[in-house]
Amino acid sequence: MRMKPGMDLPHPPAVAWKEDRLMLLDQRRLPTETVYLELTRPEEVREAIRELAVRGAPAIGIAAAYGLYLGVRDVPEGDEEGFWQLLNRTSDRLGTSRPTAVNLHWALRRMVRRAESLKGKPLSEIKEALLQEAETIRREDAEVCRRIGEHALSLLEDGMGVLTHCNAGGLATAAYGTALAPLYLAKERGWRLKVFADETRPVLQGARLTAYELKQAGIDVTLICDNMAAAVMQRGWVQAVIVGTDRVAANGDVANKIGTYGVAVLARAHGIPFYVAAPTSSIDLETPTGADIPIEERPAEEVTQGFGKRTAPEGVSVYNPAFDVTPAEYVTAIITERGVIRPPYAEGLRRAMEEPSK
Ligand code: MRU
Repeated sequence: MRMKPGMDLPHPPAVAWKEDRLMLLDQRRLPTETVYLELTRPEEVREAIRELAVRGAPAIGIAAAYGLYLGVRDVPEGDEEGFWQLLNRTSDRLGTSRPTAVNLHWALRRMVRRAESLKGKPLSEIKEALLQEAETIRREDAEVCRRIGEHALSLLEDGMGVLTHCNAGGLATAAYGTALAPLYLAKERGWRLKVFADETRPVLQGARLTAYELKQAGIDVTLICDNMAAAVMQRGWVQAVIVGTDRVAANGDVANKIGTYGVAVLARAHGIPFYVAAPTSSIDLETPTGADIPIEERPAEEVTQGFGKRTAPEGVSVYNPAFDVTPAEYVTAIITERGVIRPPYAEGLRRAMEEPSK
């Protein structure tokens, strides 16, 4: 199975542009239903991000980029003032859809900068450039993921057991994923990796999405509940952990799906390397440490009656953070499209952000 970026995916793409609309695979309905939302307004895109129809840091950024274009495409020619006001307002609004993934702000900033580089040109030209920029962000993401996969593969070996948490796969990106990219490349090379997917409470991205996409690709995946990871490691079935991230702080602290920190501590206790796959669009040098990363808190109902059935008493207090922060000291390496970064991270991350890709 040789996949070209964005093509021949083993699963339907998370984000696509069709004629005049944004198509988002509604990930709330996976794995049982394949349904696309067809969006034409930025407020719909914001809602789709908030409600997790599209999720995963890179995919959120890509969707927001198209959302920004949708926000300004109907401004009449000549209404310069209206255009710039609406561009900034829509960017601010989309930027508040979810707080943790920095890719959202990265993509919106890139779009606004592209528009600003054409200031003074006819609005039709600027709008066309914005649509092209969103397309470029999407195409580049597939390339970036493939390169992350290649670097990550250099840390793995045929026959290994690999554990992952949440979904940092093709469904979270334009293609391949970040943490799952090496698993797809290993499959292309005929390697036999045994993957353990944490189900990932409370919204089950591991069960509904990671297990789904790996199974579709014919990769050996075993689903476990989150509280089984320790037992699986104790049995000696895991030789590497690889996860994605929503934001890497300047000191190497890493925000990712709630439960990731626990997995990192378990990996340390069992002497298993803990790798974080991170496109440079997830690295935020303006955030000094993990304590400065905003952590989203989500509705109690995700915990008390996820997917319909009530599993806790009505009115019980609930704490439902969507992400946690793994301190840099637990991270064996951060794998970017520009190469593998080892501690000390402050210096390695700064250098990676300055260097061209290799
Ligand atoms: O709440 P989600 O599903 O958006 O959380 C996703 C994750 O935590 C992923 O691991 C992260 O965004 C990286 S995706 C390549």
